[in-house]
Amino acid sequence: MSALMILMFASAYIAGSISSAIVVSALFTLPNPRVHGSGNPGATNVLRLGGRFPAVLVLIFDILKGTIPVWFSYYLGFPPVVLGVVAIMACLGHIFPLFFGFKGGKAVATAFGTMLPIGVELAGALIACWALLVFVTGYSSLAAIASVSLAPLLTYFIKPEYTLPVSMLAVLIILRHKGNIVRLVQGDESKIWDKGRARR
Ligand code: G3P
Repeated sequence: MSALMILMFASAYIAGSISSAIVVSALFTLPNPRVHGSGNPGATNVLRLGGRFPAVLVLIFDILKGTIPVWFSYYLGFPPVVLGVVAIMACLGHIFPLFFGFKGGKAVATAFGTMLPIGVELAGALIACWALLVFVTGYSSLAAIASVSLAPLLTYFIKPEYTLPVSMLAVLIILRHKGNIVRLVQGDESKIWDKGRARR
């Protein structure tokens, strides 16, 4: 393992650790997304708590903090397995942020962002699937779980060399939605526009 590789892993984790939902909410003097709404520091909860503009900012930032480290690694010529680890490190940063007490979000936007340099068509198909499911069901969590579940299969057909890391990312994100899955089954999940109760 080269020093450059270790630097890329560390940079990806540090970039992922910048919790834009917390930063943007503080800048816009919105309620803390880790305390209010669903309790998740992500674009969905910022949309509930603060409306479209701050939510779009969070979404763009969270996508980019996945895209940029993988994109750099790609142009440095690292092989797929290394790009996969960089992607996972960015998502781990989002989930367990260094700068915010290791209490972060679910890394859906960041994971989609990491897939953009791997394949625009792959990331585009997954984002389109997510958007369609949100439109049809109103549940951001259900859309995320379904689209990341589809990701390994799509990757296998579009970019087979990335199937293993994308599968690992998918497992990580689905596990992170454990609470959402329980609430979906119980019929108690908040829709994307619901303020919901403070819960994790
Ligand atoms: O991207 C996060 C989303 O899947 C769920 O968010 O706030 O409904 O738990 P939330």
